[in-house]
Amino acid sequence: MKETVVSGIRPTGKLHLGNYFGAVKNFVKMQYDYNCYFFIADLHSLTTHPTPGDLHGYVKHVLVEYLACGINPEETTIYVQSDVPEVAELYLYLNMNAYLGELERSASFKDKIRSQSDNVNAGLLTYPTLMAADILIHKATKVPVGKDQEQHLEMTRTFGNRFNRLYNTDLFPESFAFNYSENLVKVPGLDGKGKMSKSSGEGSCIYLADSPEVIRKKVSRAVTDGGPTAENQPKPEAIQNLFDLMKIVSPADTMAHFDALYNKCEIRYGDFKKQLAEDMIIFNSPIREKIEELSKDTSYLRQVAKHGALKARESAQKTIKEARELIGFKSF
Ligand code: ADP
Ligand code: TRP
Repeated sequence: MKETVVSGIRPTGKLHLGNYFGAVKNFVKMQYDYNCYFFIADLHSLTTHPTPGDLHGYVKHVLVEYLACGINPEETTIYVQSDVPEVAELYLYLNMNAYLGELERSASFKDKIRSQSDNVNAGLLTYPTLMAADILIHKATKVPVGKDQEQHLEMTRTFGNRFNRLYNTDLFPESFAFNYSENLVKVPGLDGKGKMSKSSGEGSCIYLADSPEVIRKKVSRAVTDGGPTAENQPKPEAIQNLFDLMKIVSPADTMAHFDALYNKCEIRYGDFKKQLAEDMIIFNSPIREKIEELSKDTSYLRQVAKHGALKARESAQKTIKEARELIGFKSF
């Protein structure tokens, strides 16, 4: 029996290189080795109150981009989270034994208290129980996500184990973050600090759908400094970030070439950035073209989402039936 894999991305806009290298690239590789469920986490996105007229478009972006990156709906189950109401039901059960103290300690909740202090709703507080429901509903053991999600997976194990103990069962297995490379990936942004993220601003993100002109413009504006002043000096964060991006999209000898120039204090950031932009364009182009093509094919997208929802519900209904029996619900 193949192990089960679950992962999802919130539909809050277009996918960027961080989403690709931290998550979607692994989805594509895993689909042939595992029993995979990849979904669009539209329920999670409600914590930020998206405009109703925008929500479907955001969901469509992620669906199209999953497919454009090479997720094959014949091999994998691709679905929209809100099409599987069993997830919301399991979320309710898990919330009954998730404690306020542990939810308040989650790093992402603490971040949100700071970043959206005018909207600290219960959905934000219980974000980790909804994520646990996503994973446990299919009894997954592997979850391809970036480094920032590790704490949520730890909480998923806590909630699953607690349910198992409470009802004296082994219904839910433990799940762990998964990445084909040894370390979980963190893709830096172009703003000189931290990871690439939608929330760190448009200019810091390269989206999979970005045109060559946009990529050239963003990379040319990336933060740098006055250049190295001594041979072999360590690179400051902003420069190291650009090298890390180059490592992801460029051939190894290109990166070695610029690294050597940096170490000899001969690097010209203009040339370095031009090369980085061109290699990003080479990487992005086939995906961007596929995005443009698939975006127009509404009937195919509808068929994929419908088929995915059916398959996901079949698995989810089995788990919910078992959970209901364990909890003690009986029909008259
Ligand atoms: P964002 O930070 O832009 O809002 P999300 O939080 O929606 O992105 O992330 C969706 C997925 O992409 C998660 O699995 C997350 O771990 C991964 N991810 C996001 N940004 C990065 C990054 N810069 N490096 C590696 N993985 C990332
Ligand atoms: N929390 C994840 C993120 O912000 C998205 C997500 C929701 C998810 N449910 C999940 C990821 C279940 C993996 C498995 O990126």
